[in-house]
Amino acid sequence: MSAIPVIIDTDPGLGKPGSDIDDGLAIALALRSPELEVLALTIVNGNVDAITGTDVARRLRERLGHPDLPIVLGATEPLVRDMAPVRALFDAVLKDDEQIEDPSEDRLGPTTDEDAAAYLVRAAAERPGEIVVIAIGPMTNLALAIQADAAFATNVGELVLMAGSATTYAQNITVVGDFNAYVDPEALDIVLRSGAKITMVGLDQTSRVMLTRADANLMRASSDEFSQWAADCTDAWINFLGRAFPSRPEHKDACFLHDPLVIAAVINRNLCTWQDANVQAETVSELARGLVVANRGLALEPAGPKNAVVAVDTDVDGFRRLFLERIGATD
Ligand code: BDR
Ligand code: CA
Repeated sequence: MSAIPVIIDTDPGLGKPGSDIDDGLAIALALRSPELEVLALTIVNGNVDAITGTDVARRLRERLGHPDLPIVLGATEPLVRDMAPVRALFDAVLKDDEQIEDPSEDRLGPTTDEDAAAYLVRAAAERPGEIVVIAIGPMTNLALAIQADAAFATNVGELVLMAGSATTYAQNITVVGDFNAYVDPEALDIVLRSGAKITMVGLDQTSRVMLTRADANLMRASSDEFSQWAADCTDAWINFLGRAFPSRPEHKDACFLHDPLVIAAVINRNLCTWQDANVQAETVSELARGLVVANRGLALEPAGPKNAVVAVDTDVDGFRRLFLERIGATD
């Protein structure tokens, strides 16, 4: 079978202190998987600002041996929401000793002047029905692409989203919201209403897959240079999470592999169990900001057109085998 052409829309922070490492690990998994042909990384504001995310992506492509991979700069802010309080939350916990990359180095920019929305629109139009966009950050770039050209929704083969939660509340940045939906709910709403073929892997599934300090030790012991470096980043991120969320026992020795599960689910659809759903994002209530409701036909749920396929179960062991083997945690 030929490789699936994918664009990864991402907010990567791997290597930057106090930034979630999971996008970077997801990118590594994708670039090391022959089932996927990664056409580009489009960068969006999220875990880090988009300029920093672009710099992270440029360094990652070198570390992972893909020096020609296009890195495309996208949205620097959510469509309407203020990013400053989110940024302040993470900055408050940062310590200087967790710097992995040298902060004095010049930041590397995008490899093209074209912005992410324009790139997405053009790439999808050039290969109608073929390209899968895997969106593992806030959905701002996708919404801007749809706003720029509604045909993007039908030209793109599929949008695979890391957002929301299908079977229970998401519960990471708030009690009901996952980070990606919370940062830009209006963008997610536009995507969900676009008519595109949508697949959603939510936080209810991605919170079941963890990377532990023991996994990091395996990565460090391998002969794979990327894996060794990523092990140090993993320890730094787990240390950070322990400080940021002292009441959450899962962060004492582990972090979540949210975004890698979404990549893995495209590599092998059988890693998740899927159901059709009507998925909607809350955009009015500040109290419920980030809430995503996936109506799957349970009793008394309001009927609505099915606009997405959602993950409702995960083969956790199967995912771990795939991830650890490709990331280099086994020699
Ligand atoms: C999502 O937000 C970020 O913390 C992760 O990178 C993931 O994409 C989970 O809510
Ligand atoms: Ca992400």
